[in-house]
Amino acid sequence: MRVTHRARPMRPSPRITALAAWLVLAVPVAAQETAAPARPDAKAKAKAKAKPRRDPRGFYMGRQIADVMSFQGADWLFRNTREQEEQPEAMLDALKIPPGATVADVGAGAGYTSMRLARRVGPEGTVLATDVQPEMLAMLADNMKAAGIKNVRPIRATQTDTKLPEGKVDLALMVDVYHEASDPETLLKGLRKALKPGGRLVLVEFRGEDPEVPIKPEHKMTLKQVRRELEPQGFRFKDSLEFLPWQHIIIFEKPKADEPKQD
Ligand SMILES: C[S@@+](CC[C@H](N)C(=O)[O-])C[C@H]1O[C@@H](n2cnc3c(N)ncnc32)[C@H](O)[C@@H]1O
Repeated sequence: MRVTHRARPMRPSPRITALAAWLVLAVPVAAQETAAPARPDAKAKAKAKAKPRRDPRGFYMGRQIADVMSFQGADWLFRNTREQEEQPEAMLDALKIPPGATVADVGAGAGYTSMRLARRVGPEGTVLATDVQPEMLAMLADNMKAAGIKNVRPIRATQTDTKLPEGKVDLALMVDVYHEASDPETLLKGLRKALKPGGRLVLVEFRGEDPEVPIKPEHKMTLKQVRRELEPQGFRFKDSLEFLPWQHIIIFEKPKADEPKQD
């Protein structure tokens, strides 16, 4: 895996990637170059195509909920430009994940982040990789096998059940996922239950405040909106890290039982 570290992250040119990002998030089936060994196969694509298309989108607290990104677009999650655009290793460095931790990669897709998390938590740690699409989890399992990674557990979640064990998770990480959750309140309740007291919930989201970020509006989030949605669900805002070219890293904590409630 290629790792890019830069003292000052270079901003990718929006002109170069805008079209690709727009196409994938609008019609997430475009065939693209990828480094990922597991890709959606033709049989699975045909099966998905045969299903009647449903528009599951709704609104939540004034925000349009985005469509779930189809497994058919999984190649895009391993696009060659992603390391430069999203700097996953720098993002994970900032979270200072200790070896031995139990980390939930919620909405893990085909495992782009799970793979990196697995190396960080080490053999004593566990990555609980959840997704609502079984096809994504099948690709994730193939990718982990090919990389010889054994500490990632794929978990089939639903929009109303995280399927995570209660009170066992040190860190729940959602990379480009929260804006797709069709029932945000139920998801947040489930994540709160899964976290240990003092455990962290981290959202990595494309900046809704920045019109230069070449992603469809409903696939972006503003910090204000994220706080508006998470704080009433019992998450304490800790920090928002803003060093990535396009994304917020928004860190919340589940308060310990004896801590006073946030204002
Ligand atoms: C844009 S992809 C990002 C995948 C991965 N986090 C990455 O960065 O490569 C969003 C993923 O979240 C999943 N997803 C959407 N809502 C979810 C939910 N409530 N629980 C678990 N997964 C969810 C989708 O199926 C999709 O695989």
